[in-house]
Amino acid sequence: RLLGTAGAAGAAGLVAGGASGAFTAQAVRAEPPTALTTVGSTAVAFHADDRAAHQAGITTPLQATAHLVAFDLAPGGDRKSAAALLRRWSKRAEELMAGKAAKDDSGVAYDAGPSSLTITFGFGRTFFDRTGLTAKRPAALEPLPHFTADVLDPKRGEGDLWIQIGSDDAFVAFHALRTLQKDAGDAARLRWQMNGFTRTPGATAKPMTVRNLMGQVDGTNNPHPSDKDFDARVFVPASGGPAAEAWMAGGSYAVVRRIRMLLDDWDHLSRDRQERVIGRRKSDGAPLSGGTETTPVDLDKFNKDGSIAIAGDAHIRVAAPESNHGAAMLRRPFSYHDGFRDDGAPDAGLLFICWQADPMKGFVPVQRKLDRGDGLSRFLRHEASGLYAVPPAPKPGGYVGQALLE
Ligand code: HEM
Repeated sequence: RLLGTAGAAGAAGLVAGGASGAFTAQAVRAEPPTALTTVGSTAVAFHADDRAAHQAGITTPLQATAHLVAFDLAPGGDRKSAAALLRRWSKRAEELMAGKAAKDDSGVAYDAGPSSLTITFGFGRTFFDRTGLTAKRPAALEPLPHFTADVLDPKRGEGDLWIQIGSDDAFVAFHALRTLQKDAGDAARLRWQMNGFTRTPGATAKPMTVRNLMGQVDGTNNPHPSDKDFDARVFVPASGGPAAEAWMAGGSYAVVRRIRMLLDDWDHLSRDRQERVIGRRKSDGAPLSGGTETTPVDLDKFNKDGSIAIAGDAHIRVAAPESNHGAAMLRRPFSYHDGFRDDGAPDAGLLFICWQADPMKGFVPVQRKLDRGDGLSRFLRHEASGLYAVPPAPKPGGYVGQALLE
């Protein structure tokens, strides 16, 4: 779904105009600013194409910066005003992802190319009540069960509408968020915002799986788009689901959890203990059953001294599809660091986002299992939670959720 470089795709860059560089109204510039590397010039398509019906930001490579935000519709809002908002936002997302700017643009991202910007829209459970569409709410949006590691802050969870913004440039990401917020006008208000990050492209000697703030290589055993069951696991099927979900065909369900890491406790563990908690080596992510990062995990392997290689409560054993009747999800999280808490501990962890065709066959059974017997859970607190229906990408000229809202 990458369009390639903005120049090659013919996308226009952000506009400046007028005397002495002032940001005045001008037509969209025909050529983009020439970014120094593909980090700046890479653009991702917003609309569905022949190969992909789903929205960008699900299988797109992780970007360096992210904003996760939820909006609530304004009191008195209805289906019609929600449709108008989604139409506005979709048009804007298409322009922003192509690197184009509106006439009255603020200029914040003026010098940058599209920088792999993706903007992904989802609907929360309450959206359907607010718009009179309760009858069309998918069963998959039933509230998640309570887990013992939960200390959830409702003010930072759920919400009528969810937007995931990712970009390899922090200014481009901020600009996208600010522009969408202005476009919301009186129709919707921000409910919560979380800011995340991953590795900067080009920072490592070779492309590699990112690390999280515990220092582990994180993302190795994700389902891969080339797996034969990938689409069935991650995307809602075109047929076979209840009729009420026809508008979700090609879409996905996102579970979003703000998971704080108890880093002071974690950092007290020896490296050996840390590796046993996960079941993989810290240095290169290889499983403790042997091999390299990509060697399949052998859950039945015993060490020479008779101990089991991957401990009974190791995170990768408890979370594996083999331990959960095949339940699987695509994990695409960002790290976060919001300063420190009153006790001096870092307010840092993972903005855990996972994608699945059905949360009851992905996140829920796996988190239930982790809640009972995962060695990692002692070092985690789930502080906020959201579940969103993320419809398929619109066709050119259409908008996200059109099949539901029209
Ligand atoms: C695997 C870390 C939360 C599900 C892993 C791995 C690490 C890791 C380092 C091994 C490498 C990999 O395959 O990606 C963490 C951290 C978490 C967290 C630091 C919280 C801050 C969760 C949650 C779930 C989950 C909440 C789901 C409910 C999985 C799954 C695997 C995995 C399914 C792959 C297991 C396999 O098949 O090998 N995680 N994880 N993780 N994690 Fe987590």
